[in-house]
Amino acid sequence: MTILVTGGAGYIGSHTCLALLEQGYDVVAVDNFCNSSPESLRRVEELTGKKVPLYELDVRDEAALKAVFARHDISCVIHFAGLKAVGESVQLPLNYYENNLLSTMTLLRVMDGAGVKNIIFSSSATVYSTENTMPLTETGRLGCSNPYGWTKFMCEEIITDWVKAKADWSAVLLRYFNPVGAHPSGRMGEAPNGIPNNLMPFITQTACGVRKELVIFGDDYPTPDGTCVRDYIHVMDLAEGHVAAIEYAAKHKGTEVFNLGTGTGYSVLDMVKAFEEVNHLSLPHRIGPRRAGDIAQCYANPSKSRELLHWTAKRTLKDMCADAWHWQQQNPRGYDA
Ligand code: NAD
Ligand code: WQD
Repeated sequence: MTILVTGGAGYIGSHTCLALLEQGYDVVAVDNFCNSSPESLRRVEELTGKKVPLYELDVRDEAALKAVFARHDISCVIHFAGLKAVGESVQLPLNYYENNLLSTMTLLRVMDGAGVKNIIFSSSATVYSTENTMPLTETGRLGCSNPYGWTKFMCEEIITDWVKAKADWSAVLLRYFNPVGAHPSGRMGEAPNGIPNNLMPFITQTACGVRKELVIFGDDYPTPDGTCVRDYIHVMDLAEGHVAAIEYAAKHKGTEVFNLGTGTGYSVLDMVKAFEEVNHLSLPHRIGPRRAGDIAQCYANPSKSRELLHWTAKRTLKDMCADAWHWQQQNPRGYDA
């Protein structure tokens, strides 16, 4: 069974390609490398001993995408391709709407033409309104506070409407919480361009001296230690969630939405302490002002995924910290070295 992975060279996409190959699926990847490098998939091939046909294309390029569907017997698509930086989306909203919406719509049309009816979509916990109480269930109220979030919300709507109009399609919308960590080999991991926006790559770059110190964005939130609480999930657990979603989509019709989180929230200070303890180092850090747009707490109720996808996150906070550091130490410049 062959799975087409859009955005396959990216952080979550590359780890998912590896998990799919390990479970016996064949994988074809497409990516325009606007935020990644083909080296990630070369390493997937190195680790698995299997080939990943990789096409450099923009998912909005209908003709190029059609050619890939014509060459391979694809059963299901996992759609990771998209822009994901919240702050950048506020500065460049049209880039986000154009890229994320048009790529999704082009993909659906091309899948339709090729007779491929199963899609797994990368959504985000960011689609939940800040008015919900924790933990977040899939039926929580939706609403976003930035263009990136709205692109995920709108793609969920587009896919849901499309699948309603096509009685025999299956769509699984996966709302990720905070993906962190790396493959335990240290050969694959997160390689952000420039200054990282996210906490874990900022921690690892600070630990190896690329950044001077971590600034913790506020310690006056209504949480146990005053710093924000998030549901960090190991990227390999997330990758395995996609394998479970493919199996679910193969047996069900219609659209279903699932949280992919652990259900446990950790504060920024918990993360710093765990990283220091697990990796036997001291992380320069100080408390700074709050970051605009942050909420005090965000964590999942993962029971629907456990019950229907038969998936649950297995890796611990220790694994997340150890694997992220292992990757950073071996690849201080990401895939570019
Ligand atoms: P990433 O940037 O590492 O991967 C996205 C990949 O898509 C990149 O390789 C990029 O080059 C490619 N891409 C972007 N637009 C494209 C286009 N038009 N055509 C072809 N390729 C294109 O990001 P990631 O962290 O792996 O995230 C994967 C998906 O999961 C994204 O859709 C993201 O919005 C979503 N998501 C990520 C997080 C997170 O914190 N990392 C959380 C929730 C949801
Ligand atoms: C985590 C915590 C920060 C950096 C974002 C997106 C969300 C989703 C996941 C895609 C927060 C604190 C961070 C730093 C810090 N992505 N922090 N110092 O904001 O929960 O979620 O990524 O869908 O849409 O918004 O993740 O990693 O940026 O921050 O103190 O230098 O770490 O304030 O509390 P966030 P994050």
